[in-house]
Amino acid sequence: MENQVTAMPRIGDKAPEFKAVTTQGEINFPGDYKGKWVILFSHPADFTPVCTSEFMTFAHMENEFKALNCQLVGLSVDGLYSHIAWLRTIKEKIEFRGMKDVEVNFPLIEDITMQVATKYGMIMPGESNTKAVRAVFFIDPKGIIRTIVYYPLSLGRNFDELKRVLMGLQTADEFGIALPADWRPGDDVIVPTAGSCGTAKDRMEGKMEGVECKDWFFCLKKLPKEKVMEKILKK
Ligand code: BEZ
Repeated sequence: MENQVTAMPRIGDKAPEFKAVTTQGEINFPGDYKGKWVILFSHPADFTPVCTSEFMTFAHMENEFKALNCQLVGLSVDGLYSHIAWLRTIKEKIEFRGMKDVEVNFPLIEDITMQVATKYGMIMPGESNTKAVRAVFFIDPKGIIRTIVYYPLSLGRNFDELKRVLMGLQTADEFGIALPADWRPGDDVIVPTAGSCGTAKDRMEGKMEGVECKDWFFCLKKLPKEKVMEKILKK
């Protein structure tokens, strides 16, 4: 095991396939979710506090992700009965930041053999040999990994950021643009550089309607929030 090198999936790769048992029955990943965005995420362990706060937040936001045509799928290296007992305890006993009676309706994968976690590079031995780190894979409707985010065991994820990443990927795809630092729907967007959108001269001479260039390589345009939401919210 010591010298075993596991190739980790990267942005642009096809999401590795697997079959698994979950709290919502068996799944065939990513095939069962074709046509949807998927957030596949791992947590270190059931019955731990940071993970509990994260699960409650994910469950609380599940409908917001669903509205963006996105399915949540969780994973840890615990077994199915542990998952079921933990989720029941969360619903019956835990209150956090005004959230209570929280039911988790998205699948939570059991991965006691660590096969899936290993395939996805969720085990990082420097952090833990026996637990998955907090990994988040954004997978598009064609089954391609589009963003990967990792957090350590000691830090809970930022859910506004996870939703922003999803909306950003969808917006960039829909409008063929790029998005600047800290972009949120309604903020100006970046017009791709020359070749794909007008010549450098056209851009600098203000010949492209609605496009404002600071220099040939840095051009912005308005993209109203309503236009973004109309495209990315599921009809
Ligand atoms: C937690 O979720 O609280 C946690 C899990 C594993 C290690 C440390 C913290």
